[in-house]
Amino acid sequence: MNKPLPSWLVYCRPGFERDCVEETQAKPLEAVGNSGYLVLQGKARLAYNQLAFARQLLTLLGEVRDLPERDRLAPLLAALPAAPERFGALYLEVPDTNEGKTLSGFTKRFQPLLEQALRDSERLTDDACLPRLHLFFPSEDRALIATSDPHNSSDALNGIHRVSMSADAPSRSYLKLAEAFAVFMDEQEQAQWLKPRMTAVDLGAAPGGWTWQLVQRGLHVTAVDNGPLKGAAAGHPAVKHLRQDGFKFRPQRPVDWVVCDMVEQPQRVAALMTEWIVGGYCMNAIFNLKLPMKKRVEALRIALDSIRSALNKKGLRYRLEAKQLYHDREEVTVFLHREKR
Ligand SMILES: C[S@@+](CC[C@H](N)C(=O)[O-])C[C@H]1O[C@@H](n2cnc3c(N)ncnc32)[C@H](O)[C@@H]1O
Repeated sequence: MNKPLPSWLVYCRPGFERDCVEETQAKPLEAVGNSGYLVLQGKARLAYNQLAFARQLLTLLGEVRDLPERDRLAPLLAALPAAPERFGALYLEVPDTNEGKTLSGFTKRFQPLLEQALRDSERLTDDACLPRLHLFFPSEDRALIATSDPHNSSDALNGIHRVSMSADAPSRSYLKLAEAFAVFMDEQEQAQWLKPRMTAVDLGAAPGGWTWQLVQRGLHVTAVDNGPLKGAAAGHPAVKHLRQDGFKFRPQRPVDWVVCDMVEQPQRVAALMTEWIVGGYCMNAIFNLKLPMKKRVEALRIALDSIRSALNKKGLRYRLEAKQLYHDREEVTVFLHREKR
């Protein structure tokens, strides 16, 4: 007999549930608009890092409804399936909605209780290789029980990498690039690819949030924008500001990074970034693709396919990942890394 197909629990930015369904091409069992999560079936495997609109990808194991307000612990423990026998971490999670925010107080209080009960029964250990246990509360009386594969999911609570704002940052966009580094690279890759005194070009840099994020990591930045840099990014010794067209600018010598936040057609930005990587101007790129109001998944697919096709034609080895980050709205952030031969 064939193994039954798994059910998936996916978290996303509220309002992008349909995009998740379209992207996974799985069958929606539950996909309410603006809920920030969905339950899918019909795919034997999904790859987290190839899904742009999924913040988190979990295997759904069960569900508890009508949780009594005064004792949620007993019914939840009773509902935990026998397999997997042990978990490497426990995450109590809520949707990224106003209701979710009000529930997060309860999950914070409840976490130590449940954690202790699971440790006492030796079902919870600190082994990062084991599946993680997730209890997701769409409402206060309902919990979805799920697990994540540490190699095919986000390690952040609610699938959201929290980053802190620098008091000196010229704009909140600073947070987006910080989040992108955390989402696309593990600590070892960050240490290897973001070393002090490396060089970067920031296309569409003003007022300077992304430039400031790079400077904070010790990089030297050429910031290209006709607009003015503000705050600490303006006049900083590690920043060279050029008032030029970001689509025409090319560095005289190769740099380590290009980042690009120009508001333009996704296809045009994708073509520009492809040219930088194929032309050997840099090895790493992070850029935003602003999505249209309609057919967002298709627009993204066309842009990413055009990059893949150009790089494949040149026989280059690369990593290409796209995510709608917590700090992204109608856009997706893309990481493109060209591997050394
Ligand atoms: C969303 S803002 C960038 C915010 C920036 N990443 C930050 O962290 O502060 C977009 C910028 O792109 C610039 N821009 C748009 N088209 C451009 C072009 N062709 N050349 C240079 N800059 C451009 C705009 O002037 C604007 O400052």
